[in-house]
Amino acid sequence: MKKKTAFFCQNCGYEASKWMGQCPVCHEWNTMVEETVQKSSGSTKDRIAAAGGAARVRPATLASIEMYAEDKVSSGIDELDRVLGGGIVKGSMLLVGGDPGIGKSTLLLQVCRNVSEAGHELLYVSGEESLKQIKLRAARLGEFTEHLKLLSETNLDTIADIITETKPEMVVIDSIQTMFNENVQAAPGSVSQVRETTGVLLKVAKTLGISVFIIGHVTKEGAVAGPRVLEHMVDTVLYFEGDTKANYRILRGVKNRFGSTDEIGVFEMNEDGLREVKNPSEFMLSGRPENASGSVVTCCMEGTRPLLVEIQALVCDTNFGFPRRQATGTDYNRVNLLMAVLEKRVGMRLSNSDAYVNIAGGMKVGEPAVDLGIVMAVASSFKNRAIDPKLVCFGEVGLSGEVRAVSQANNRVSEAKRLGFTTVVMPESSISQVRDVKGVKLIGVKSVADAMELI
Ligand code: TYD
Ligand code: MG
Repeated sequence: MKKKTAFFCQNCGYEASKWMGQCPVCHEWNTMVEETVQKSSGSTKDRIAAAGGAARVRPATLASIEMYAEDKVSSGIDELDRVLGGGIVKGSMLLVGGDPGIGKSTLLLQVCRNVSEAGHELLYVSGEESLKQIKLRAARLGEFTEHLKLLSETNLDTIADIITETKPEMVVIDSIQTMFNENVQAAPGSVSQVRETTGVLLKVAKTLGISVFIIGHVTKEGAVAGPRVLEHMVDTVLYFEGDTKANYRILRGVKNRFGSTDEIGVFEMNEDGLREVKNPSEFMLSGRPENASGSVVTCCMEGTRPLLVEIQALVCDTNFGFPRRQATGTDYNRVNLLMAVLEKRVGMRLSNSDAYVNIAGGMKVGEPAVDLGIVMAVASSFKNRAIDPKLVCFGEVGLSGEVRAVSQANNRVSEAKRLGFTTVVMPESSISQVRDVKGVKLIGVKSVADAMELI
């Protein structure tokens, strides 16, 4: 019999019957790889039945479903708990994605340490490192209790058997791209293999009420399937981002069935593992140049938390006829649009200038409230005049050059005040929302032209 094969995009999991150079869904090039398609055997069902998990399946009424407050287990790391929406939900499946070397294994081993200290039984399965290597890492992180069991294995059948036998409360799979299921004839890390192994783990987790953390590497080359392939299967998706060279990391929730998705957690990588950054604004602003032109502090909201970041702009004469524009940490098109607003509404001649806009510290901001900050940084660099270092600005800028109201103005002003800023430039229409104005001067602006007068 001829084997049935299909082509899978290794980036997003799109399936096609023939090869193509570019994936029509995620538009990545050269990511389609041929894989054998095969349905998995019924072994999972047998296994669960043997463990007494799903012996009798019956529909239930809502009222008959029991709920416990302790259905959420604290990870022992506040920053992570907040991103998760309070803690690790029992029986949930969580995906932690990120570039290799960003600190995924370290974070989860730390979670294991905290959770096992609280007396919960855990299993950490590594397909990447030997037990000795895990021990070396663990030695840097501190003391571990005997509630944590380790396993260096890549065969999913063996792993699933051990899970159903020992029934730990939480399992970590590091990483899903190293795992393989004998029933699937594709290499570990391929889309079919990654999907199939996750499917088996999902069934085991849901029937036995075990929380499963899955680590997935993000890869650019498309050699192994990316975590995006799994996003729809799991309950919670977290991405760990940041520059591997800079020592801070940001954990971002992308999907969460049990909480909001716009919270972030900030960490710092140290010799003894990841440390929480409780005060990210202070951290982001450390080392800021004072009285330099082109630098301004703005306030964006990350979930429920205000975060102060520095925006830097460098505007200089262009050498060739075509001006160069570059944006790091913020949207390139938005920067171009805001520069067009400056040109048209304030008459600033930027069409002969190169412009580079950068969010200091490697943060990524996408909120419209940073518009005013970008405009002020560009104008400050263009005029070569420094902005008061004790000034924070925020506001959305419209196409007619108007400065529009933003949400949570009060929280933003409080954060600025807390960090010792004395002047806040903000949309005039948001001023009435600010309750606590003592010790800080609020300047309401209606348009970009008003803001220019401050430079
Ligand atoms: P790791 O957790 O192995 O990354 P991932 O699992 O996402 O691939 O983290 C690897 C990096 O972290 C590596 O460069 C070493 C560094 N590191 C520290 O700086 N301090 C530590 O305590 C540990 C355990 C790792
Ligand atoms: Mg790792």
